Amino acid sequence: MMDKVTLHHIQAMKDRGEAICMLTAYDYPTALLLDQSGIDMLLVGDSVGMVVHGFENTLPVTMEMMIMHCQAVRRGTQRALVIGDLPFMSYQVNIEEAKRNAARLLAKGGADAVKLEGGQSMAPTVRALVEAGIAVQGHIGLTPQSVSKLGGFKVQGKTIAAGQQLLADAHAIEQAGAFSLVLESIPARLAELITQRIGIPTIGIGAGPGCDGQVLVTHDILGLFDRFTPRFAQQYATLATTIRNAANAYRDEVRARSFPADEHTFTLNDDVWEAITADDE
Ligand code: KIV
Repeated sequence: MMDKVTLHHIQAMKDRGEAICMLTAYDYPTALLLDQSGIDMLLVGDSVGMVVHGFENTLPVTMEMMIMHCQAVRRGTQRALVIGDLPFMSYQVNIEEAKRNAARLLAKGGADAVKLEGGQSMAPTVRALVEAGIAVQGHIGLTPQSVSKLGGFKVQGKTIAAGQQLLADAHAIEQAGAFSLVLESIPARLAELITQRIGIPTIGIGAGPGCDGQVLVTHDILGLFDRFTPRFAQQYATLATTIRNAANAYRDEVRARSFPADEHTFTLNDDVWEAITADDE
């Protein structure tokens, strides 16, 4: 078995210039497959609310949902670092709640680290979690839990002030002790600059090739969530079509009574059969 990925490995990958791979996972079989393929970090993202539970955005996701999905991913993972996303309002109310909820994702969910959204204003929370012994991944740029404030899922950091703020946010999250930082939907030049200016690894999603690593939502790369695919996502498979074709074939065979066939069917010895039918007369 390959060595378990640790925070030290992730930092060493940045230091060596090796690209870091992260994908989302929400269930046991997917975690098993992604872990076997050597993905370095599995994010149990609150995107689960959209791609698994069918919500419009990530806001309805609860701690209970996140704990359950973290537990399933933990069972399927041996090597990758498992990161549990703190859902909306589980860490914003106050630092004590943030600590309690982050601890639940680790102790009950089995996550190795937590992720939370926000820049300078969240730095005291990140610091408190790190001081409590919890590994934290930051997330700035398009932060989906603030979708109403941002006015939709839009590219961030396009003005001088917004770009400068993102740089300040990145420094603040690094200084607070986060071990890595997700940069979502920001211009590639800005992401590259942030990557050069901070010492911890940056993981981009819609942030160009200049980040230390990349993350995508697994349902997007597999073509499983075909209601909407973001421009920055690359589809490596078309599983929605595969699943529809399989369901159609099953439906047709059941309707035609060609499934189940002999090979799917259990037999009963004649003497048992005769005894059962005789008793029943
Ligand atoms: O919830 C999620 O999947 C995320 C990634 C998009 C980074 O936060």
